[in-house]
Amino acid sequence: MLAMDYRGPKRIRVTQKPMPEIKHPEDAIVRVTRSCICGSDLHLYNGNVPDTRVGTTFGHEFVGVVEEVGSEVTKLKVGDHVLVPFNIACGRCHFCKQGLFGNCHESNPMATAVGGIFGYSHTAGGFHGGQAEYVRVPYANVSPTVIPEGMDIEDAVLLTDVVPTGYQAAEMAGIQPGDTVVVFGAGPVGIMAAKCAWLFGAGRVISIDHVEYRLEFVRNYAQCEAYNFRDMEDPVVFIKKTTDWMGADVVIDAVGAEAAGNTMQTITGRKTLLQAGSATALHWAINSVKKGGIVSIVGVYGPTDNLVPIGNVLNKGLTIRANQASVKRLLPRLIEHVQNGIINPKALITHRIPLEEVADGYRLFSAKLDNCIKPVLIPPSARM
Ligand SMILES: NC(=O)c1ccc[n+]([C@@H]2O[C@H](COP(=O)([O-])OP(=O)(O)OC[C@H]3O[C@@H](n4cnc5c(N)ncnc54)[C@H](O)[C@@H]3O)[C@@H](O)[C@H]2O)c1
Ligand SMILES: [Zn+2]
Ligand SMILES: [Zn+2]
Repeated sequence: MLAMDYRGPKRIRVTQKPMPEIKHPEDAIVRVTRSCICGSDLHLYNGNVPDTRVGTTFGHEFVGVVEEVGSEVTKLKVGDHVLVPFNIACGRCHFCKQGLFGNCHESNPMATAVGGIFGYSHTAGGFHGGQAEYVRVPYANVSPTVIPEGMDIEDAVLLTDVVPTGYQAAEMAGIQPGDTVVVFGAGPVGIMAAKCAWLFGAGRVISIDHVEYRLEFVRNYAQCEAYNFRDMEDPVVFIKKTTDWMGADVVIDAVGAEAAGNTMQTITGRKTLLQAGSATALHWAINSVKKGGIVSIVGVYGPTDNLVPIGNVLNKGLTIRANQASVKRLLPRLIEHVQNGIINPKALITHRIPLEEVADGYRLFSAKLDNCIKPVLIPPSARM
């Protein structure tokens, strides 16, 4: 089968790989119909995630048709068109039982932080992902969900990560009616977080990025204010000034480890890897939220350490909430929001790219060319 192949930092190609096989009675094999490239894939692409092995297939956002099921799969049948959440979750461990499906203790037993994630290095369990024609889906009775009748598969594919992550960012932020919400990052996740902030009763939503076309997009899509941090002397002062010097009620970090905007952070976090990515947006978040406020982090940082101003967190009395999104927990609510037209996920898709051209897809998305917001890969069999 055709699949994306990681050859080393910034080296991606498409190649022929063996077909995945059922290895456990609860596995399913899914023929992919759409898969996305995510901001999280850029951390892998840039070589910033430990234990990303040459030969890995990335891709944790995909939908497809069930081709084969193991003998203990009862919830799916051959021919079902399913959306597959990016978290691989057993559904029965201590953490899954609490709804912490991103922290499953069984799907990634060598780690104590994150659970298994499709196509996300051996740090996240070493599973191959969905930027391929076929993928093996473990624990097929737990997270994979049949796409509801009438739902566009391009809406469904964004329910595997982007929509739940943006929604959970707003949920973790504990937004109270009328709150001023600042969202750092206007990539797909930040755009969705800004959109969802209103659902929790925000009174004012401010998006901050430095890519003009993305600011323009979020302004229209999420009906919010949007500003370029390159136009500001200091984003923290800008936010304080616009909130009567109080600071924002809540701030969401939807940027993570690839943040721009601070030379020292960029050199230590991205160029020399002396810390687990550049924590610029997180610094700005901590310093621009009001005293007693909440910082919600969905931007991904690596498993090692970052320099963060913990003294400011303590002395301001902040609450920090962070996690990988728990997709399965949120799906029932978010499927309804999509069906009712409250969220229109596929509007984020700007590029539909043949799987054969996956390397171009990464280059385009990574360099933010051609007004790219969200690229989706289409395997040959889904184009017939
Ligand atoms: N927690 C989760 O479950 C989860 C799920 C999906 C993605 N993520 C993470 O969310 C983050 C965003 O994902 P995405 O797909 O939107 O990625 P993306 O790379 O498309 O978007 C990131 C945006 O941040 C902007 N940016 C860079 N530095 C900034 C700064 N200092 N301040 C404000 N904006 C800045 C970039 O210009 C870009 O538009 C990534 O770190 C990704 O790994 C987390
Ligand atoms: Zn993703
Ligand atoms: Zn579990």
